[in-house]
Amino acid sequence: MSAAIKHADPPVLEVNGLGKSYQLHLQDGLVIEVLRDISLRLNAGQCMAITGPSGAGKSTLLRCLVGNARADSGHIWLSTPKGRVDIANATERTLLRARREAIGWVSQFLRAIPRVSTIDIVTDPLLADGIQPEEARHRAEVLLTRLNLPARLWNLPPATFSGGEQQRVNLARGLICPRPLLLLDEPTASLDFENRDRVIELIHAAKSAGSAVIGIFHDPIVRDAVADHCLEVKPLVC
Ligand SMILES: Nc1ncnc2c1ncn2[C@@H]1O[C@H](COP(=O)(O)OP(=O)(O)OP(=O)(O)O)[C@@H](O)[C@H]1O
Ligand SMILES: [Mg+2]
Repeated sequence: MSAAIKHADPPVLEVNGLGKSYQLHLQDGLVIEVLRDISLRLNAGQCMAITGPSGAGKSTLLRCLVGNARADSGHIWLSTPKGRVDIANATERTLLRARREAIGWVSQFLRAIPRVSTIDIVTDPLLADGIQPEEARHRAEVLLTRLNLPARLWNLPPATFSGGEQQRVNLARGLICPRPLLLLDEPTASLDFENRDRVIELIHAAKSAGSAVIGIFHDPIVRDAVADHCLEVKPLVC
């Protein structure tokens, strides 16, 4: 088990009664309820797959867990190195710290900052952890190699990369530091079979290192290979 992650009791993540609606300001403030009364518990080393049809709210749930979308009701208790934090009700400052210290996040699409190179995107979380630049670069190169991203791309910004190349940069950034909670939104959607298998290996490695993993996996082969539990998000009939 990694020194950065301690097996936690209480669980790494405990969600109670989570609700989330979106308000459409361009549609006269129309409110669309997406999530209602979602609860889950996840321990270190376990993986939960979020299932449900397109538009049911799977990505919304992950965005609430990482704090990119504010839950309207309920609690999201996350065990961080500095104690439990309720992501749903934390101040912005506590949220930023909890996210940096306790969450690895691979979003559905990479939002690349123009002119920032791939290697800088991937080393950034390590440097924020206080790892020396040379060591951070070495670790990033090892992971990018494992993800089959050609070395000729490492010093380029990923804006012009193919979908699968961008996804592997996103994965490398999300996986480079071991974290108590790892959130993955369709991490293999643009990958070929060989790269998909690499990602399965990396998810197994994260679990073995003690991360609790929550993922949306459209590919049933990936889901069956990594998930210990499933949580179905059902579309709400409003
Ligand atoms: N920022 C937003 N503002 C308004 N509505 C939104 C917003 N984000 C998502 N929605 C709506 O919330 C619902 C759930 O979207 P979400 O992206 O969570 O679905 P999903 O289950 O991840 O779907 P998919 O499998 O297609 O990725 C959809 O009806 C979507 O239109
Ligand atoms: Mg989605």
